[in-house]
Amino acid sequence: MSTPQERADFLRREITRHNDAYFVRDAPLIPDADYDVLIRELRTLETQYPELNAEDSVTTKVGAPSSTVFSEVVHAEPMLSLDNVFDVDELRAWGERVAKGLGEDVDTLDFAVEPKIDGLALSIIYVDGELVQGATRGDGTVGEDVTDNVRTIRNLPTILHGSTTGRVEVRGEVFISKQDFEALNARQREFESKEFANPRNAAAGSLRQKDSGVSASRPLSFLAYQLVDLDGSLSFTKYIDTIHQLASWGFYTAEETLVERGADAIIARSTWFEEHRHDLHYEIDGVVIKLDDLARRETLGFTSRAPRWAVARKFPPEERTTRLLAIEVSIGRTGRATPYAVFEPVVVAGSTVSLATLHNEDQVAQKDVRPGDLVIVRKAGDVIPEVVSAVDEPGRKRHAPWKFPSKCPECGGRLERVGEESDTYCVNPSCPAQLQQQILHFASRGALDIEGLGEQRVTQLLEVGLIHDVADLFTLQESDLASLEGLGELSAASLVAAIAGAKQAPLSRVLVGLGIRHVGPVAARALASRFGSLDELAAAPLEDLEALDGVGPVIASSVHRYMREPESIERMARFARHGLGLVEPKIANALEPTLAGRAVVVTGAVEGYSRDGAEGAIVARGGTSPGSVSKKTYCVVVGEAPGASKVTKAQELEIPMIPGASFDELLETGTWSATLA
Ligand code: IVH
Repeated sequence: MSTPQERADFLRREITRHNDAYFVRDAPLIPDADYDVLIRELRTLETQYPELNAEDSVTTKVGAPSSTVFSEVVHAEPMLSLDNVFDVDELRAWGERVAKGLGEDVDTLDFAVEPKIDGLALSIIYVDGELVQGATRGDGTVGEDVTDNVRTIRNLPTILHGSTTGRVEVRGEVFISKQDFEALNARQREFESKEFANPRNAAAGSLRQKDSGVSASRPLSFLAYQLVDLDGSLSFTKYIDTIHQLASWGFYTAEETLVERGADAIIARSTWFEEHRHDLHYEIDGVVIKLDDLARRETLGFTSRAPRWAVARKFPPEERTTRLLAIEVSIGRTGRATPYAVFEPVVVAGSTVSLATLHNEDQVAQKDVRPGDLVIVRKAGDVIPEVVSAVDEPGRKRHAPWKFPSKCPECGGRLERVGEESDTYCVNPSCPAQLQQQILHFASRGALDIEGLGEQRVTQLLEVGLIHDVADLFTLQESDLASLEGLGELSAASLVAAIAGAKQAPLSRVLVGLGIRHVGPVAARALASRFGSLDELAAAPLEDLEALDGVGPVIASSVHRYMREPESIERMARFARHGLGLVEPKIANALEPTLAGRAVVVTGAVEGYSRDGAEGAIVARGGTSPGSVSKKTYCVVVGEAPGASKVTKAQELEIPMIPGASFDELLETGTWSATLA
């Protein structure tokens, strides 16, 4: 048994280590809930044994130390943290304490109950309605100036709606919605071979980018929850009215926030959030309960780290147990062999899951999960299924520890672990699984968008030996395809036509399709608009690549290397013969961004534009063109033979629908004069 002093020292070291991982490196080592347990234990010890010198302990500090990359900002008022409670009884006790501090009855007090969104705190200053500064919380007193990056947050007003004068500070949380997070991680998987652990880390990493172009490419959102009056120009008496003011200035605020009176009501509302946490479009790790009356807040004041008038009720992460059926290995585009767990389907955090990646050999060994084990499953960041560990089952005989296969499950080639890396690769360059993934990627929506080239078709083409490389696609003839089972004459003709059509794709999409490591859509666009053709890009010296905005040294050397590999040279030569990747319309930079930050959905055929072309034109104007209609859609362009579901959805959500004939007007002006009923 260790003494209280030893235990406190241990906990302080552990917490410091985890603070560093979480705040500085954006790569937490343990789940938030486990971290909270450490903090709690240390706090309890420090309260029990005052001789442990708690004044300078990690328990009195909030958040991250400032880094040196950004300039420092001293907050007008410290950005504090919140005290936590973990169950209903603790919440009730907190309510009683608040009431006692005020000399009132808790059942006469009003509290706002709102989601505790799991992102990172941000302070934004507006002068006369104009955004002048954005800063992170930092250590609570001094934060980092991230103004340029903050300006790229899409749902954040840079000019407040309505006329406002004076100096105000808006605080809130930067986050990435669950849906955006999934898309972002899919992109990371494709281009960076590194995924974010959860939306919070992704948001933190995205906001602290040196290059604001990178921040802009990340789907950051902002939710406002605090208005700080910096010059006495505001006069509110209730918190909820400040939230309404923020909303009318154009901020996104939590629409689920309600003001409730008394302990039972706040408990009921916070439990409602716990039950509905998975229905929200962003991740929450609890609720925040705040006294509504601002004068009463003044009376209560603050402790050194948190206000007395607010508290967070944290929710435990949802975990389920299930039976691990098998551990299998999948082969990716680069040959990387990734082990994954196959388990009996369970409902976790709102959906049924039966598979979870195990990342690599070391992770499997570290978790020591074996087929047949009862395992704990949860969703990291509420999104990504993850096997946590095996459950002890005394008396049950376990299988032997799982061994990484030595042969590729797809081609039988050797699987090798290279150097210090923890990843294992299939070293057979003609492994059909790799080739299949490469071709699917080449034909995918983000790349050449070749319709009719799905998984099944690609498998067939590979099996009958019609293709061995992406460049072979362009030599396919209708007559070759006649031998394929299930492919009629008509579909053969349209596949050949779709492939021929893809030759018109702009260079940036060809670059995306090649799957060069680290080259995603942002870098591809930067490279394409600077070099204009594959030839020029292939000839570019490393310095020229590195000098480009949006292309760092890692991307530059990856492209440089790729362009000099013998297979790539051969592939480029064949592309050139087919007229592919020769052009990039250099319009992107010259056009006025009439659709900046707006989502325009196109359905049906718009005269004068291919599907890609219409999307490209929207992107060239600063907009996005998602595949489905949502509340956030700016308008829907309805062409010939539109999709019924998109039209119905637009009607339901009352999103304006404009005729295809007005598409050019929309691009030119950002608005329209004709709508469809
Ligand atoms: S109010 C002085 N409201 O949680 C009170 N914070 O664990 C300041 N957070 O630092 C915070 N959702 O980054 C508040 N609805 C909400 C919140 C919220 C998330 C974050 C915030 C805070 C941290 C404390």
